Amino acid sequence: MILEAKNVEYAYKSQKERKVLNNISVRFEEKKFYTIIGASGAGKTTLLSLLAGLDSPTGGAVLYEGEDILAKGLNDHRRNHVSLVFQEYNLIDYLTAEENVKLGGTDRPEELLSKVNLPKEAWKRNVMKLSGGQQQRVAIARALASKAKVLLADEPTGNLDEQTAEGIIALLKRTAHELGKCVIVVTHSKYLANEADEIVQIADGMICFR
Ligand SMILES: Nc1ncnc2c1ncn2[C@@H]1O[C@H](COP(=O)(O)OP(=O)(O)OP(=O)(O)O)[C@@H](O)[C@H]1O
Ligand SMILES: [Mg+2]
Repeated sequence: MILEAKNVEYAYKSQKERKVLNNISVRFEEKKFYTIIGASGAGKTTLLSLLAGLDSPTGGAVLYEGEDILAKGLNDHRRNHVSLVFQEYNLIDYLTAEENVKLGGTDRPEELLSKVNLPKEAWKRNVMKLSGGQQQRVAIARALASKAKVLLADEPTGNLDEQTAEGIIALLKRTAHELGKCVIVVTHSKYLANEADEIVQIADGMICFR
């Protein structure tokens, strides 16, 4: 087991009385491809943010290799253990596609950009001059460049056409099975969800077993 949410609770500061996550316990392993599903507002992005160390739970803990991520610090967790593809892609807006992927931790961004099927003429273009779906693919390539053992993605295929989305899903699967990473993907897509080794379903801030 590499990553674990243990009795996690979360309430946003503006609405302290309302728990968005309620006693979530779930374990994630390397070499596995997970999907997190649930209705809009169920708490999926919130859970992913806590697993990423973007914030800390208001109850319970997130453990990486058995250790509370607060112990080493959230910065250390974010920098060394997880790579992220989030709904807003967080690309560096004054850099090109290639330069953004390089920042993920590779000297060979071309390889990854061709894997995510970004057209070659877009590689050296400023990312703000790419379409939403192209930016999304750059964000995925950047996450794949990282040496972190855990890859977290929030709706990574949301802006993509069906064929490109299927290619990305196959790539995420190989990233888990062949590169041995723990890949955790939030999705509304039934197709993507069913490709997972394990599906985690959230309803009203709680894990529900299927
Ligand atoms: N910054 C915030 N402040 C207060 N409440 C928030 C904040 N962000 C999210 N929420 C609330 O927390 C709950 C869970 O939100 P979350 O974004 O985790 O849902 P989600 O499952 O990712 O939904 P979606 O599928 O629409 O992305 C929702 O009721 C939402 O309104
Ligand atoms: Mg969300």
